[in-house]
Amino acid sequence: MNIKQRRTIRKYTQQPVSDELLNRLIEEASRTQTMGNLQLYSVVVTRSEEMKEKLAPAHFFQPMVTQAPVVLTICADFRRTTDWCLQRQASPGYDNALSFVNAATDALLFTQTFCCLAEEEGLGVCFLGTTIYQPQPIIEALELPELVFPVATLTIGWPAEKPRQTDRLPLQAIVHQETYNPFTPERIDACYKKRESLAVNKHFVELNEKETLAQVFTDIRYTRKDNEVMSENLLATLIRQKFLKADNLLDEVPVVERRPDILECDVVRFQNKKEKWVAFVGMLDGFPYEIFTGLQDDEEGIAIPKSVNKGFIIKHYDREGQKRYDFQFVNKRGYKTTIEGLSERFNPKYWDYAKLISGVLRYRMPIDHVISLITSLQLENDTINSWTAGVARVLKKYLPDSSPMYDEEEQE
Ligand SMILES: Cc1cc2nc3c(=O)[nH]c(=O)nc-3n(C[C@H](O)[C@H](O)[C@H](O)COP(=O)(O)O)c2cc1C
Repeated sequence: MNIKQRRTIRKYTQQPVSDELLNRLIEEASRTQTMGNLQLYSVVVTRSEEMKEKLAPAHFFQPMVTQAPVVLTICADFRRTTDWCLQRQASPGYDNALSFVNAATDALLFTQTFCCLAEEEGLGVCFLGTTIYQPQPIIEALELPELVFPVATLTIGWPAEKPRQTDRLPLQAIVHQETYNPFTPERIDACYKKRESLAVNKHFVELNEKETLAQVFTDIRYTRKDNEVMSENLLATLIRQKFLKADNLLDEVPVVERRPDILECDVVRFQNKKEKWVAFVGMLDGFPYEIFTGLQDDEEGIAIPKSVNKGFIIKHYDREGQKRYDFQFVNKRGYKTTIEGLSERFNPKYWDYAKLISGVLRYRMPIDHVISLITSLQLENDTINSWTAGVARVLKKYLPDSSPMYDEEEQE
């Protein structure tokens, strides 16, 4: 089949796929390039009903797993190479993240080459990304040893359907000349215009009671919550399979160079002189990552209901590419409200000081040190000094229980 005609096939006839054909395709696909020609992958062939039934739950019972004559699980594999080294007086050093990525690259290159060859032969193939969502039950079912990790599953059979072809984004969505060209709002519009106007996608949005197609992805298909839970799972399984070491992760200082576009935040009220102020403390991995503060005021400042203690700080680019920060919260009735342009609502001087404090937080200076630093600042007037004291009080909320400063606060 010509690549221009290709599509994923999820329904198969009962006609068998012979061992001879399968082995020929696997052998041909092994001509694919691999790191150091080490072929850091392995393929587990599943044909028996019993094994398909065992794999099905790991793939969220997608029907192709039990319906396809053949299921292939392609694994990143440093086991074989490691055993070879050990048997040949060589010391392998492949129980690390880099080696996992190298082996996963080899495995996925093999997978795609196999798909092209199988589709050329007239077979129908479906790639199952669920493989990395719940790797542990797959590892158990297939008895994968340490340094072997499943990265892709293919269901294969002779097609019993001819679904419509899916669309593709235009070239300008994927190609950058010489350097990465930023996506202006106009370019995003141009890239997604056709996709968003397709009847099938409009129907999809309506069916899911969403406003945009992007929301179908963020709120339903691939949500933050699911991604975070499955990421934890993935890391835990990489540790179990000995590609990662647990202490690497525990000692990690997660400095995030690029601020995430959305940060959960705490809303903390504080007094500055006689005025009521509010702080938005952006949180990352349970630590304060940035702080914005402003006067609570219906007219010029920030007015939010008393019951709101949490929300999101959202980085937003307008049509001119100008960056701003919005605050979004959900009220008691479940409706979202967005306060746009936090930066414009605040006195620039406080904004600048808050930016400096955020810079320190972002690099994970321990909170007690941040508080000492802030309280030691001698700024130009009483109001700003009172503001820094207020910010220090806000940050005390994030001290670990064991901190002496925490106790001091408790006794106050
Ligand atoms: C990484 C990855 C994960 C995928 N996971 C699934 C899956 O779990 N179930 C499924 O039915 N299709 C899955 N697919 C197939 C895609 O849905 C499909 O390729 C995409 O919608 C484009 O359609 P087409 O292949 O027919 O052009 C996956 C494809 C990739 C590359």
